Amino acid sequence: MSDLNLLSSVLVLVLISVYLHQSSSASFIPADNYLIACGSSHNITFLTQIYVPDSIQSSFDLKTQQDSNIVQSKSTVPLPIHQSARIFTAISTYTFNIRKQGRHWIRLHFYPIPEHNLSSSSFTVVTENFVLLNSDSFKSYNGSKFISKEYSINVTSNILLLNFIPSNNSIAFINAIEVVSVPDELIPDQANRLSQSSSISGLSELAFETVYRLNMGGPKLTPQNDTLGRIWENDEKYLHVNSSAANVSITPSLVKYPENLTPEIAPNWVYATGQTLGDAKVTNLNFNITWVFPVDPDFTYFVRVHFCDIVSTSLNTLVFNLYINSDSAFSDLDLSSFTGNLDVPVYRDFVTNSTDSNTLTVSVGPEIDAEDPNAILNGLEILKISNGAKSFDGADPVVDLVVSPAKKKKIWVVLAAVLGAVVAVVVIVSVVCYRYIAGRGSKPKPDQMKPWLPHSITITNKSTISLTSCNLGKTFSFQEIMDATNKFDESLLLGVGGFGRVYKGTMEDGTIVAIKRGNPRSEQGLAEFRTEIEMLSKLRHRHLVSLIGYCDERSEMILVYEFMANGPLRSHLYGTDLPSLSWKQRLEICIGAARGLHYLHTGASQSVIHRDVKTTNILLDENFVAKVADFGLSKAGPTFDQTHVSTAVKGSFGYLDPEYFRRQQLTEKSDVYSFGVVLMEVLCARPALNPVLPRDQVNIAEWGLKWQKNGNLDQIIDEKLVGKVNSSSLKKYGETMEKCLAEYGVDRPSMGDVLWNLEYALQLEETSALVEVDDNSMNHIEGIKLSPLEVFDNSVSMIDGDDEFRRGNNGDDGSTSNVFSQLVHPRGR
Ligand SMILES: *[C@@H]1O[C@H](CO)[C@@H](O)[C@H](O)[C@H]1NC(C)=O
Ligand SMILES: *[C@@H]1O[C@H](CO)[C@@H](O)[C@H](O)[C@H]1NC(C)=O
Ligand SMILES: *[C@@H]1O[C@H](CO)[C@@H](O)[C@H](O)[C@H]1NC(C)=O
Ligand SMILES: *[C@@H]1O[C@H](CO)[C@@H](O)[C@H](O)[C@H]1NC(C)=O
Ligand SMILES: *[C@@H]1O[C@H](CO)[C@@H](O)[C@H](O)[C@H]1NC(C)=O
Ligand SMILES: *[C@@H]1O[C@H](CO)[C@@H](O)[C@H](O)[C@H]1NC(C)=O
Ligand SMILES: *[C@@H]1O[C@H](CO)[C@@H](O)[C@H](O)[C@H]1NC(C)=O
Ligand SMILES: *[C@@H]1O[C@H](CO)[C@@H](O)[C@H](O)[C@H]1NC(C)=O
Ligand SMILES: *[C@@H]1O[C@H](CO)[C@@H](O)[C@H](O)[C@H]1NC(C)=O
Ligand SMILES: *[C@@H]1O[C@H](CO)[C@@H](O)[C@H](O)[C@H]1NC(C)=O
Repeated sequence: MSDLNLLSSVLVLVLISVYLHQSSSASFIPADNYLIACGSSHNITFLTQIYVPDSIQSSFDLKTQQDSNIVQSKSTVPLPIHQSARIFTAISTYTFNIRKQGRHWIRLHFYPIPEHNLSSSSFTVVTENFVLLNSDSFKSYNGSKFISKEYSINVTSNILLLNFIPSNNSIAFINAIEVVSVPDELIPDQANRLSQSSSISGLSELAFETVYRLNMGGPKLTPQNDTLGRIWENDEKYLHVNSSAANVSITPSLVKYPENLTPEIAPNWVYATGQTLGDAKVTNLNFNITWVFPVDPDFTYFVRVHFCDIVSTSLNTLVFNLYINSDSAFSDLDLSSFTGNLDVPVYRDFVTNSTDSNTLTVSVGPEIDAEDPNAILNGLEILKISNGAKSFDGADPVVDLVVSPAKKKKIWVVLAAVLGAVVAVVVIVSVVCYRYIAGRGSKPKPDQMKPWLPHSITITNKSTISLTSCNLGKTFSFQEIMDATNKFDESLLLGVGGFGRVYKGTMEDGTIVAIKRGNPRSEQGLAEFRTEIEMLSKLRHRHLVSLIGYCDERSEMILVYEFMANGPLRSHLYGTDLPSLSWKQRLEICIGAARGLHYLHTGASQSVIHRDVKTTNILLDENFVAKVADFGLSKAGPTFDQTHVSTAVKGSFGYLDPEYFRRQQLTEKSDVYSFGVVLMEVLCARPALNPVLPRDQVNIAEWGLKWQKNGNLDQIIDEKLVGKVNSSSLKKYGETMEKCLAEYGVDRPSMGDVLWNLEYALQLEETSALVEVDDNSMNHIEGIKLSPLEVFDNSVSMIDGDDEFRRGNNGDDGSTSNVFSQLVHPRGR
């Protein structure tokens, strides 16, 4: 018997825990829940929620072009979150990491703190795609009033940007921001279209602004009474003056939620109160209850009506009509037929245009023939739908508000801006690389090195990219990546590029890797990422940084590469205090990089142009073996019936092929030019562009070529190499470099020729270390009949790439270099 008792207690416990589990899983926990008190110095607790200062939260990022100011109010403010504000004098961006994509609320709280003259401010707020507020009509401040705006946007990337753009000679400000996940089921993709008895779909792509959210006949509800932190106002002030409606209410706990409707749709406080016609025995009930709402007539609205029959005493007695504007939304509406019971909530959605006037009206009225005439409405939400320009405020899309119209007209201005941005990128990259080396001990602060770039706001029209079709080797789970990078710990940041951030990671088996986390913010970035993946999956070579695997879970675009312990070549040339490289080491590195590029140009089935050859894209492993990295800008080379690929100018300023730049025609010879700049940089140990130098020295290629042509190259070499370079080796190197930097592509050698000549320069250096040889020693080496000029004139490459790569594409070209050594090295025969 006691066994049976035990069994039943266990059963009861199990049932209780199942029940508890169900009820706890029913309440929604937002995956993203940013509550930010802008400019505050401390946490602010308001309506049981904690708002964290924007200076300390680490999961989002604030970028400003100029320093933003913080102001605090000393007098009393309407709400605690209005105590402080952040003020921007130039365009500024909050970037939020989004854990779970989908609809999010963006709530903006504005209160023009009186002692700081903010009420005259004029500014625009945009996300990446949507215009939330536009300065043209944002002059709504009046006296001590404050404004709270609520938007809901389906975020389809792992980042949400919020840009504040001050108008001319004005400022922007913000007191508090909320970015909170919305349950998926809250806003459907479809709703009924009024007056056309059809439905409208595609709502999930659109953004909404909450303009009215009302609790009919009941008190104002605050986040304390709503699990989703919404505010429901009382409806009295919108009631049409001559409607004599009556409040009704029941105890909220009596509201019986059906299976398909949760308190997330609306809390029971909403359904427990309503407006009705009143008592039929007392008054004439032949009237409509009408609510009138001022709205912007240029927009379409989403209207959600909430009902709950809390007045009837039996089923099927409450039958009434619902009108939105003058359209009949429901006639002979019998709530019991939807709910099957009393006190059961039900809601319906409609989409409507406003009438020609500036109002939207909602009415409920009795069915004339009803035995016991009455009507009820419990709750109402009116959401403004973003227009065709993806705006809530005017007809200008984001792109027009961010790029000033003056710039669009003058192409050269745009070009200058693009070049400026490219220069900025080069500068950032050098800074990053410098920090990457110099800051290994100390924790880098990447946010401080990212100046705001105008094109960080881009219109995207993202197409989903599936990686499953590519054969990319190992796939990693997002969790593995998180573990490897200690949740993308900023102290593991190796660098920041156009496509995202690169972190050092340690995989579970102890392998150290470089993890590149794509920033799918722009179409550009995605396309380039895609290119890189495709390129890398096809290209394997000892002198190309190899891809270990990737992760595309949760729409992440993450690539895992082999880790290059010695970082970028540039950091071993200048700007750091790393030991300087010997001439022989430099030659070997250049040869390695040339091999990688030669393979790109000739090794794969279709020739690949790197397009961004520079000293930061040549990485060194623990043995200083050079590998070419970053195929993000790669583009398949011309096929046999084309002579060039026409394309928008990309790449890094200072390395750009002048011909490519002029004619936007891309060939392998563009890479050869850039490689010539790399050779110059390796020799002189200075940046490709150094704007602080006198005009004729700014560009290394221009400047260096002059010295080379005058035969004085030895005077501009890295001072650490002075006296340590064999003169014939240097001469060979100088000639090769000069050929690479030829004005016209046809005059430049192929990468194969460059490789051959660098090998030769290396042999000259090594030989000189053994025996004193004069400049023309080459002619004395048995078996070698090539003079330097012949090498360039010979259009057929000395190294037959095809043979090498047909052998299995594993790219270990040691055999080729052995042949070379034997050919060239005097001791080889
Ligand atoms: C502020 O709030 C955050 C999040 O709730 C909490 O982690 C932090 O400890 C709070 N800081 C202070 C100073 O109370
Ligand atoms: C406040 O703003 C008004 C309107 O822009 C301007 O005329 C006035 O000079 C400002 N006052 C101060 C103290 O900045
Ligand atoms: C500001 O308030 C005043 C009176 O309080 C009113 O006359 C004026 O129209 C209001 N301005 C705006 C833009 O609402
Ligand atoms: C902003 O100011 C510049 C010059 O001060 C002017 O050319 C431009 O039209 C102004 N733009 C707007 C939107 O007022
Ligand atoms: C958000 O948009 C994506 C892509 O359009 C869609 O698949 C998803 O269902 C949307 N989510 C919501 C909650 O509307
Ligand atoms: C309805 O409720 C509101 C707010 O609770 C109250 O102010 C109002 O007086 C009520 N009206 C009636 C007719 O009871
Ligand atoms: C909100 O809920 C609390 C209980 O959690 C209740 O005491 C309070 O009266 C409610 N407030 C309103 C405005 O309904
Ligand atoms: C309500 O007011 C309108 C005019 O504003 C009038 O035409 C109508 O008869 C009134 N209705 C009632 C029920 O008083
Ligand atoms: C209620 O409003 C609708 C639409 O405006 C109208 O057709 C209907 O006659 C009104 N009913 C009453 C009783 O006034
Ligand atoms: C709103 O009006 C426009 C034309 O004025 C029409 O094309 C559109 O379908 C209307 N939308 C709805 C929901 O009725």
